Amino acid sequence: MPALSPAPLHMIDLIRKKRDGSALDAREIGFLVAGAATGSIPPEQLAAWLMAAWLRGLSVEETRALTVAMRDSGEKFSPARLGKVAVDKHSTGGVGDKTSFLVAPLAAACGLVVPMISGRALGHTGGTLDKLEAIPGFRTALTLTEFEAVLGKCGASIVSQTPALVPADRALYALRDRTGTVESPGLICASILSKKLAAGLDALVLDVKTGSGAFLRKREDAEYLAALMVATAEAAGTRTVALMTDMGQPLGRMAGNWVELIESVELLRGERPAGSEDVRELSLRLAGWMVHLAGKAASAEAGHIQAEAALVDGSGLRVFLAMVEAQGGDVRVFDNLSGFHKPGATRVVEAWESGWVAEMDTTALGWAVQRLGAGREKAGEPVDPHAGIEFHARRGARVQKGQPLATLYATRAALLAEPEAILKRAVTFSATPPHAVVPLISRIFTRETAEAHLRDAIR
Ligand code: URA
Repeated sequence: MPALSPAPLHMIDLIRKKRDGSALDAREIGFLVAGAATGSIPPEQLAAWLMAAWLRGLSVEETRALTVAMRDSGEKFSPARLGKVAVDKHSTGGVGDKTSFLVAPLAAACGLVVPMISGRALGHTGGTLDKLEAIPGFRTALTLTEFEAVLGKCGASIVSQTPALVPADRALYALRDRTGTVESPGLICASILSKKLAAGLDALVLDVKTGSGAFLRKREDAEYLAALMVATAEAAGTRTVALMTDMGQPLGRMAGNWVELIESVELLRGERPAGSEDVRELSLRLAGWMVHLAGKAASAEAGHIQAEAALVDGSGLRVFLAMVEAQGGDVRVFDNLSGFHKPGATRVVEAWESGWVAEMDTTALGWAVQRLGAGREKAGEPVDPHAGIEFHARRGARVQKGQPLATLYATRAALLAEPEAILKRAVTFSATPPHAVVPLISRIFTRETAEAHLRDAIR
């Protein structure tokens, strides 16, 4: 007897199933994702399912099926022709987080290929593409053919998502944004990983932020997301680790667009400016894991040594400059880093008390950076390449009243007052030195520890 073909699926049944607390199987998820990508399922039904998924949660198996179906929903990039191990890093977003500008060239200088598909400023967090576009001429919207050519020449390329890549995420993310369904671990995991895995990665290092500037503020939520992403990416065939890292203060001393490139290039030149120690250390640790997962070093520590050698001998800087040039950027701006920085207005904010810098509300500081002109109010608006904040004191520093605490750089003087007020609310002082030193990296999830964490969380 011929095998019966499976019963046709109807979106209304999948909404009811999720609403009533049952898990969808891979075929049902595939149907939903195809409908989102092609537009054959109307937005109101997708939105209803998203809300049911937000309220009921997605199982680990549903998250895996959703990630893989979304990854496969459009065009994919295949780095295999480049003949090198393909690796990438993804951060859940922060303030002053410029590690991409160091890890991508350093990993490439260690013999790997880094096809990095990045995003723009989102909420209080900065965007890698907006920062790169501060370089005159730099193009982030490359075709996949151009992307492959830059990778072949330089080993690293940082670009925006093409319209054909992961169309299901484009549709679902826009609906999530409008229906209050963004903050769901399963949906976040599938959204982030589908885009990363569509770049054909062999290995991926995740930087999951914790602390006052993190996207997920509760530590247990951030840990669950980290473990879920590691287990999901591993199940999809990509070697993955997640580092839980501190976002309890901005990373490094600069936050904004061009100012973050100044700090990155200083570090790539081998300089050790005060206030940039954490960016250097985190970048080397992330790059060390990339080199290790790619099989080029026996441990993450050995990978760290290789990455540091590429920093010190200037090969990372050479890859960075080659990438900028290959993507149309004018590298002459790096000859005079501060000379190219031309903010419309500048204000030095002095410490209003003597004491130790105790807390920095980093989400508030991120909003201050965006409102200086570095971010946008509405999608598609231009950003000011020169806006940002330079911090002269970090958490734990001892300051005297009247000492410069930060310099604000804005598009125009009228934009300075609100960020200054935000900064003054966001930074607090204490009369005694802080007791606890917050570690830069608090936890690492590998496949084994991620799976164990998920088992414990579900039990
Ligand atoms: N970034 C993404 O790309 N997707 C999410 O769901 C959240 C952050």
